[in-house]
Amino acid sequence: MAKGHKDKVAVITGAAGGIGQAFAKRLAEDGVHIAIVDLGDASDTVKMVEAAGRQAIAVKCDVSSECAVDTMAKQVQAKFSHVDIVINCAGIFPQKEFVDMTFADWRQALSINLDSTFLVTAAFVPGMRARQWGRVVNMASSTLGSVVTGFAHYTASKGGIVGFTRAAATDLAPYGITVNAIAPGLTRSPGTVVRAPRPVFKSMDEEFEAIAQMQAIKRVEVPEDLVGAVSFLTSDDSAFMTGQTLNVDGGRVRS
Ligand SMILES: NC(=O)c1ccc[n+]([C@@H]2O[C@H](COP(=O)([O-])OP(=O)(O)OC[C@H]3O[C@@H](n4cnc5c(N)ncnc54)[C@H](O)[C@@H]3O)[C@@H](O)[C@H]2O)c1
Repeated sequence: MAKGHKDKVAVITGAAGGIGQAFAKRLAEDGVHIAIVDLGDASDTVKMVEAAGRQAIAVKCDVSSECAVDTMAKQVQAKFSHVDIVINCAGIFPQKEFVDMTFADWRQALSINLDSTFLVTAAFVPGMRARQWGRVVNMASSTLGSVVTGFAHYTASKGGIVGFTRAAATDLAPYGITVNAIAPGLTRSPGTVVRAPRPVFKSMDEEFEAIAQMQAIKRVEVPEDLVGAVSFLTSDDSAFMTGQTLNVDGGRVRS
């Protein structure tokens, strides 16, 4: 078990499935109680957390809506009375070539990926500040350091998340709150297996394999590859590390 996890409370957005669900399972195994925040049905994640002997609450919430986040924070507060850890994992990655991209496409990616990161963090910082301990982990992406098509809005949102991570880390350090980010590579998840492959590939399987070959570690990334990083970044062991983005991508992007 990572140091300092026992009986902490984490809010994890986007934890009904995919990477967020893997985070919920791992942190529950580490001793953390979990609030799962998602638009989708999170009953499978609730079962995983409870199987690990921890408490769970599933709150349906659109994390890009200020009003919905406010209501969600009250529900979480009512269940757990405080929150120690926020993991901003909810996100979308719709592909759209720049020449076809509308302002609505742009706003949607920025709103769901970046605005949500601000809103959910802001909702729980006052409680962390009062207790002088907190951990915030945001989701960046290897796309920020790669050549990928159709992702101007997505990559901009992830660049914003890296900037937010760096700046919020400075502001929140006096209160014992660290803010870091994880940048995964292309990871097999419910969201990526159903998306259309980029035009140069015949299938997503072909795209997964091609990306794996660009990594130092030549196998397809899966959500479980990311859980060690989130366990560390939310523990006491990472207390002197803040404002950083960890590349967890099999050694594809070097920065
Ligand atoms: N899978 C990858 O290849 C990859 C690579 C780099 C970064 N990431 C990032 O990791 C995070 C998780 O990705 P994933 O692959 O698990 O995605 P996923 O699509 O499998 O899961 C995303 C979850 O977020 C939820 N969600 C979406 N919009 C929401 C909203 N407005 N409010 C609340 N919940 C919402 C979905 O319901 C879903 O459960 C995202 O931020 C993504 O950008 C993923």
